[in-house]
Amino acid sequence: MLDWPLKGARKEIATPAEETTSTLLQKTNRRNFIVWFLGGLMGAIGLAGLAPLLVYIVPGAGANKFLDLPITLDKPLDQLQDGQGVSFDAPAGKGFVMADGGGDNHPGKIAFKGFAIKAGGNVALLSATCSHLGCSVSLNEGQGFSCPCHGSAFGLNGNVKRGPATSPLSHYTWKKGAKPNEIIVHGVDLPGVG
Ligand code: FES
Repeated sequence: MLDWPLKGARKEIATPAEETTSTLLQKTNRRNFIVWFLGGLMGAIGLAGLAPLLVYIVPGAGANKFLDLPITLDKPLDQLQDGQGVSFDAPAGKGFVMADGGGDNHPGKIAFKGFAIKAGGNVALLSATCSHLGCSVSLNEGQGFSCPCHGSAFGLNGNVKRGPATSPLSHYTWKKGAKPNEIIVHGVDLPGVG
C-alpha cells in the first residue's frame, strides 16, 4: 500500500552523485556567463577607446570628409604687395582645417575665415581665429593683425606681438589654383553648417 508514494518520492530525491553533477553544471554555467559578460564588457570598453583612432585609421570612419576647397580671392596673389593681405571665407557647408596652432587653436581645428598675406616676399595663409579665445582678428596692412576682444596683436607672419595671446595664428595648408586669384585650401565638408 505504501509502495507507490515511496516510489514517487524516490524520483524527487537526488543521489549524492547526481547532486554533485548538477551543482557542477550550475557552477560551470555561472562561470561561463561571468566569463562571457566580462569579455563582452572589456571588448566594448576597448572599442570605445579605439573609436577616436579608427577615425584616422579607417577612411570614412569619422564624420568629417576632408577635401580641397577652391576659393576665389578678391585680389590675385601676384598683385599683393609686401605687407598686404586679402581675407577669404569658407563656402556654406564647408570649413578650413588648421595645420598648426597653440593656445585655443590646434592642428585639425576647423575655422571659417582666413587671410592670404604677403610678408618677406612670401604668401602664407593664416587663420583669422585668435589663438587666445577664438575671436576673429582684423588685418592692419603693413603692420599685422589685431584682435578686438582682448587686444592681442600679431605680426604679418602671425607671431604674437602683444598678449594676452601667447601662440601665433594658425596656418592653413594650401596651393595655388588654376586662375591667378584662385587658391585651393585644405578643408572639410560640414553639411548643414553655414
Ligand atoms: S580672443 Fe583675441 S585677444 Fe582674446
